[in-house]
Amino acid sequence: MRNVKISAVGAWVPPRVLTNADLEKMVDTTNEWILERTGIRERHIADPEIATSDMALNAARIALEERGTTAEDVDAIILCTVTPDHMFPSTACIVQHKLGAKHAWGFDLVAACSSFVYGLTTAAHLVGSGSHKKVLVIGSDTMSRIIDYKDRSTCVLFGDGAGAFLIEPGEEGGPGFIGFRNELDGSGGEALRMPAGGSRMPPSHETIDKRLHFVHQEGQAVFKFAVRRMGEISSELLAAHNLKPSDVKLMIPHQANRRIILACADRLGIPHDKVLINIERYGNTTSGTIPIATREAIDTGRLEKGDLVLFAAVGAGFTVGANLWRWAI
Ligand code: ACO
Repeated sequence: MRNVKISAVGAWVPPRVLTNADLEKMVDTTNEWILERTGIRERHIADPEIATSDMALNAARIALEERGTTAEDVDAIILCTVTPDHMFPSTACIVQHKLGAKHAWGFDLVAACSSFVYGLTTAAHLVGSGSHKKVLVIGSDTMSRIIDYKDRSTCVLFGDGAGAFLIEPGEEGGPGFIGFRNELDGSGGEALRMPAGGSRMPPSHETIDKRLHFVHQEGQAVFKFAVRRMGEISSELLAAHNLKPSDVKLMIPHQANRRIILACADRLGIPHDKVLINIERYGNTTSGTIPIATREAIDTGRLEKGDLVLFAAVGAGFTVGANLWRWAI
């Protein structure tokens, strides 16, 4: 496999902010509870005219501009999302057209909060095989469209946003993709899901009345699985490449809950100052968290060429994934 690098990162969030104080007026909650139990202060919410493809497009354009390349050079688009514009056509098609990526194929990748890590893994192999030169991996989710703003246990957690990585061949022997470990554990499917709207339970007046088109979750079951498995898979991945947690310069985890991230870092033995946490300002943007956090790491000077970066996530399914890269920008 040839060397593969992350060559550009873009991120975009809608301007409107929903604070904990706003949520206090909507459901029976408090700023203190949300902050203490999740680490979230505010999240960005898309206005009605903005859909997942619009945010994806903005993030992708920023990444391409940063790289100084055009959409016509893109060979494939992997669009990670659980909130596509439509069931079909795929959001990848909509973005391909609006971006003007005339030579790209692509698809939507549905793995909830692990989607972006799965997308990165897939892009690394498309480029690594030698068959593709430029692959866009975009994580974009408009979670506010599938959240029940009458359910205090879920509505405080999520926000909207998007990010994009451009993946390209790296210098031979230079920094780039090291490896991955991804897995499914479908036995956890009941713990976090949107029950209606698919072929199992098509939309009907009854499903709407019962609020089954919203996210339903058993918070504690998800929490416990995430802490355990995100830590375990990260340490398995490091060991498989003869690396230690102390070798990691920056861990960029999926941002679901500050307590999940810190517990996971503690289990791994990675000090908190080597973990990127920005959940306070964005909440859980599902597929968007990792690229949005990576953009922040770049903007705040927390990544230098050659640094070992660990991306890790757990999501609905359950899905689990981790990637190791040496930073190449
Ligand atoms: N405000 C005030 N009280 C609340 C709120 C709220 N927003 N939400 C729940 N509570 C109450 C509950 O009703 C419960 O009250 P009770 O004891 O009277 O029954 C009490 O707080 C404790 O509830 P728990 O569910 O035990 O609270 P917990 O500490 O587990 O926190 C949370 C809940 C934040 C949802 C946590 O379980 C969590 O983060 N789970 C992971 C969920 C997640 O991140 N999913 C997203 C995607 S998957 C992923 O990314 C990993």
